[in-house]
Amino acid sequence: MTRLWTTSSAFFAYVFVLTALALSSGYASAQSTIMPMQVLKDRGNIRLCADAEFLPHSDSKMNPPGFDVEVAQAVAKHMGLDATMHWVVTMKGFRALRNLYDGECDFFMGLPRDESFLDEAFKLDVTSPYYNGGFATLVRKDAKSQTLTDYKASGVGVIMATVPDVRLFERGYQRKLYRSFEEVMAAFHNKEIDVAVVPALEAGWAVYKDEQSGLRVLADTDKAFIYPMGFGVRKKEKDVKAAIDAAIEALQKDGTIEKIRAKYGVPALAVAAAGAQPAAEAKPADAAPAAEPAKPKDESAAPAAHSAEALAADFPNDEKTIDKGRRLYKQACYKCHGENGVSGGTIPDLRRYKGDHYEMFATIQSGRVEKGMPAWNDYLTADEIKKIIVYVKSLPPE
Ligand code: HEC
Repeated sequence: MTRLWTTSSAFFAYVFVLTALALSSGYASAQSTIMPMQVLKDRGNIRLCADAEFLPHSDSKMNPPGFDVEVAQAVAKHMGLDATMHWVVTMKGFRALRNLYDGECDFFMGLPRDESFLDEAFKLDVTSPYYNGGFATLVRKDAKSQTLTDYKASGVGVIMATVPDVRLFERGYQRKLYRSFEEVMAAFHNKEIDVAVVPALEAGWAVYKDEQSGLRVLADTDKAFIYPMGFGVRKKEKDVKAAIDAAIEALQKDGTIEKIRAKYGVPALAVAAAGAQPAAEAKPADAAPAAEPAKPKDESAAPAAHSAEALAADFPNDEKTIDKGRRLYKQACYKCHGENGVSGGTIPDLRRYKGDHYEMFATIQSGRVEKGMPAWNDYLTADEIKKIIVYVKSLPPE
């Protein structure tokens, strides 16, 4: 299965899609089909959009159906409706969310409840969370230490350009980079690594399926790595969202969601105490504590008008900034754009970039997702992006 690196967690594919959609005026002005509760009741069903091939989340072969699908089925049942599946391919995510906008389905599995999604620009809203997703620490059971910080110097496995890759780098961790979750698992197998910070549900599922794996998922994770996940709904359909919220609450209270979690080894992620990485084991059946949304970001976009003073204030051109920018560049951009911005391949040589700081800022934030340039807004803060720009602009011309 060749998913792009972003899809090591389909969640990130969703993030890219949404970012791209926000910028597409075509979608912003498109009419969405109105599908309020009464319509669903008359019809007798609610349709879920889910990824066709993404266990433990969902699988069109329905054997097993997947965690998100089973929760959605329980939600539908609680609403007195049948759940009908509408399968989508996440990497064609543009299509996927268009399905929701166009009314081909009524809710969409597993979207992070994040500020940037709840922006007015979107016709999308996210229900209350039904689990905490994100990234968790996977460690060899017999490793000499079960504490992430003890691997700071020796190396922690991460998937390239994911949130843990960026954050652990910033904290001075030695990282071992892999392109996919499968590669991380192979690295455990080959004894290259004893610990990795990887998509939590995939990790939980791998350990759950294979008792011989010799691995365990730690329950406590850095809050920067936890995302409360709900269902995506059309923003207009407030009564549908309210009904799903009520169903999620009831299913959390009566233990239904917990039972489903246990079936898929979904770890109960809790926020680790600041600075510590205790080694509590994730118990799939534990109720998830309600973690606060922990997405670090979103300063507003760069202002449109920019005087020389504004430029100097927004992009301070000093050694310290350049140095930080260089480090971030090396971490996040170098793999594609080359050392010191020198690129000979199909990926643009950034020294040739014609636009000003602000245009570059906008490009980096939103990416060119369909061409393979990630939306960095999802990984880097505005401040970090600015530092990278100061560094790139400081590079000697060709
Ligand atoms: C996975 C590979 C990849 C990574 C990592 C990546 N980029 Fe890109 N970037 C691309 C591709 C591919 C394009 C060209 C997109 C297109 O054809 O429009 C691009 C385009 C750009 C452009 C527009 C260039 C132009 O001439 O229009 C800028 C600016 C840019 N990237 C900055 C960055 C920065 C800064 C980083 C690090 C934070 C980064 N990129 C990381 C692949 C990447």
